[in-house]
Amino acid sequence: MISMSEAKKINKPTLNIEAAVKRLKPVVTHTPLQFNANLSCKYGCNVYFKREDLQIVRSYKLRGAYNMMSQLSKDLLAKGVVCASAGNHAQGFAYSCKKLGVCGVVFMPIPSPQQKVNQTKMFGEDFVEVILVGDTFDDTAVAAKAYTLEHGMTFIPPFDHVSIIEGQATVGVEILDDIKTFTHEPIDYLFVPVGGGGLSAGVGTYFKEHSPSTKIIGLEPEGAPSMFWALKSGEPVELENIDKFVDGASVKRVGDVTFSFCKDALDDMHLVPEGKICTTILQMYNEEAIVVEPAGAMSVAALDHYADQIKGKTIVCIVSGGNNDIARMQEIKERSLTFEGLKHYFLIRFAQRPGSLKEFVNKVLGPYDDITRFEFIQKHNKEAGPALIGLELRTKADHTTLIENMKKYHINYDEINKDDNIYGYLI
Ligand SMILES: Cc1ncc(COP(=O)(O)O)c(C=O)c1O
Repeated sequence: MISMSEAKKINKPTLNIEAAVKRLKPVVTHTPLQFNANLSCKYGCNVYFKREDLQIVRSYKLRGAYNMMSQLSKDLLAKGVVCASAGNHAQGFAYSCKKLGVCGVVFMPIPSPQQKVNQTKMFGEDFVEVILVGDTFDDTAVAAKAYTLEHGMTFIPPFDHVSIIEGQATVGVEILDDIKTFTHEPIDYLFVPVGGGGLSAGVGTYFKEHSPSTKIIGLEPEGAPSMFWALKSGEPVELENIDKFVDGASVKRVGDVTFSFCKDALDDMHLVPEGKICTTILQMYNEEAIVVEPAGAMSVAALDHYADQIKGKTIVCIVSGGNNDIARMQEIKERSLTFEGLKHYFLIRFAQRPGSLKEFVNKVLGPYDDITRFEFIQKHNKEAGPALIGLELRTKADHTTLIENMKKYHINYDEINKDDNIYGYLI
């Protein structure tokens, strides 16, 4: 699953976060820290959201990009800048290009949500050009770096640079400033999403110095656990395959510089299942009227896992981004229902005789089991004809009855949402 990569042993550099605060003050929004009554009641603790979904580009990524670009010399800025990004870094980069009046080229992976491509063009206006290359961020980055060299431009990385980390750290400065308006007790837990590690390196390091008793919990998607394995291995490792669903936070390999901070700053790592993230996106939309993207929902999605530990405590979840493409909502709902045990797909081989489907509907399905998908091809020269059936159940427990009935009526079936590869084709 993983291979050791040429880890560059990095001595942890010094961060000048105060200088980044000054540089960013006129450019970024000081986003609110909000008490969340619903979740505080649910978990018996005080939950606060740091609303970086309300940042100008709807994620914190502007902070790092602007902090680095605004320090480049006039000569370098005149030659232009390049970035590679799954989306949010690109938007922060594009906004910074327009703000600084410099030309930028944005490389994006081909499967980037269209909404992120459009937003990037909107924020950069005539200052940016978007080039779509590669399947993952890592492939895109290779093409972008080659282009940078060829054209004598400056590459603005999404996470692995001291200036980027300093910029992202300013999220932590605002949290510690703002929490004082609510309480003088220290924050017990800070939940931070992790992709390449820029946000967690910056915020985590600032907290270690200014709020050392806070436990910093890093969160990664289950399908892209690159920081999890880096911490276990003592150095960044390259994952062979990752699930790209959480597009903001799915990287094959964390940074060398970010890792040098994260190994000391993170107290724990938790891998959040993609389906759980989807359920949280829907809950935040329905219950809080907050639009979050998958990476932005991870900090809240992790709370169930920590429910016992956080009781009676003060906790902050960084809601890191809100760039959710409405076109992804159907997939988000599907993944959520599947994770909650309410959506199931079966391949059923019906006996090729009249009435076998009727028998299935009348006897095997329960009164509230809803057929949401049905694909059947009758085969006259075979004894059994396969049908793909999607079922939405009212409760998780209805699944047990359904399987009992399948067995009782000798239904020949395969449950295909248990197979990740086939399931991937269905949604
Ligand atoms: C919304 C959002 N949250 C979290 C992350 C993870 O960030 P990092 O690479 O700083 O760890 C990203 C990365 O792009 C993001 O866009």
